[in-house]
Amino acid sequence: MAYPYVSDKEVSVVSKGFGDPLQRRIDTYVERGGYGALKKALGMGPDDVTEIVKDSGLRGRGGAGFPTGVKWSFMPKDNAKPHYLLCNADESEPGTFKDRELMRWNPHQVIEGCLIGAYAIRAKHVYIYCRGEFFEANQILARAVEDAYAKGYCGKDILGSGHDIDVTVHQGAGAYICGEETGLMNSLEGQRGQPRVKPPFPAAVGAFGMPSTINNVETLCAVPHIVEHGGAWYRQWGTEKSPGTKLFCVSGHVNRPGNYELPLGFPLSELIEDVCGGIRDGNALKAVIPGGSSVPIINAEEVARCSLDYEGCVEVGTMLGCASVIVMDDTTNIVKQVRRMADFYAHESCGQCTPCREGSAWTAQILRRIENGSGTEADLDTLMEMTQQMVGTTICVLSDSVAAPVQSSINKFRDEYMALIHAESSAEPAGVA
Ligand SMILES: Cc1cc2nc3c(=O)[nH]c(=O)nc-3n(C[C@H](O)[C@H](O)[C@H](O)COP(=O)(O)O)c2cc1C
Ligand code: SF4
Repeated sequence: MAYPYVSDKEVSVVSKGFGDPLQRRIDTYVERGGYGALKKALGMGPDDVTEIVKDSGLRGRGGAGFPTGVKWSFMPKDNAKPHYLLCNADESEPGTFKDRELMRWNPHQVIEGCLIGAYAIRAKHVYIYCRGEFFEANQILARAVEDAYAKGYCGKDILGSGHDIDVTVHQGAGAYICGEETGLMNSLEGQRGQPRVKPPFPAAVGAFGMPSTINNVETLCAVPHIVEHGGAWYRQWGTEKSPGTKLFCVSGHVNRPGNYELPLGFPLSELIEDVCGGIRDGNALKAVIPGGSSVPIINAEEVARCSLDYEGCVEVGTMLGCASVIVMDDTTNIVKQVRRMADFYAHESCGQCTPCREGSAWTAQILRRIENGSGTEADLDTLMEMTQQMVGTTICVLSDSVAAPVQSSINKFRDEYMALIHAESSAEPAGVA
């Protein structure tokens, strides 16, 4: 995929090099200043590196938005046990396609971010857990790691610093739940990819029972830039509580879907209208899911008030998540969309927790009944009550992710559910998307 469209609103920090195959080559990466931040970091103490990242206010780009420097500071300061850095490259959230592009276009940026992160948390081994279906990204990363070893950026005594850091690219096993941090650790260890009960938290007992930190690909890609230019530089973008830039993956009914790097706090309506060229075919906007399929849907009125930062999304009743903006125009059958999401979660539930295993399957089944014209008004009450019992009652938040689109769509688009419930025939309702 080429990246021909760059608007004057976009900022090129982590997306630098997108669309340029030369950026993948280690020599080009180094010529353009790459691995300079690693050199700088190795000349500092690990805790000083963590401090710079803390100062920048960088928040995890994998969905939860937890401050990265604070997370790193939870790791033990000694090396009584081996430490691990895990780079979460499993990217399976519906609507999300940013980490894949970061790995495809700029693999050395990912590796440099991992090496700096590992140094800061005193880890001697990095595992990049890359989604199994990303064949190309896996190959590109593996090649880049090989080149980085050959040039002395990985392995023993990196850049003559006396520090050893190994990097392993691990191909994932093809399940959404392996992106959840403890599910990923189990999968990496060769066990079933099922999330673990917390506590203990990964900084105490993580991969292979050792202190571990897990970070998303995009989070780690921001790190070399922050180390090179400083925390204040990164804060020139974004808001006080959500500093920096973010890759927004825009899909659905816009004229120009794609990845756009923008300052956090960017208005959602401006993203749709100006950056993405507006809604297709001159249609009207109906709804948006701003953070991947796990967050509440918002309607057109809420879209107009939504700024794309962690706090701005909460203000309109949703979440930024991993910033995967799914745009739906007025031809969309909302019930069908929500049913598709419920099918996805029912399929991906790992089955450990009853509310998730049973609740996700029943949610999908009831939604299908409504979609087919055989539902009742009582089904809506059942859906609301049942999904409420799926929130905060399970080992991981996959279960909560089922509740978010179901509850928000019933609250905001109840008339669409009612139209299907009271329709005389079970024919496919208007809307094909
Ligand atoms: C069901 C589920 C799937 C997840 N999938 C991913 C994923 O594919 N990639 C990712 O980075 N984080 C994913 N996460 C979030 C991770 O558990 C974790 O919070 C994240 O990797 C931490 O990195 P960060 O602090 O840099 O955001 C998922 C969480 C859940 C509950
Ligand atoms: S909430 Fe669902 S996916 Fe998460 S551990 Fe429980 S059963 Fe597995």
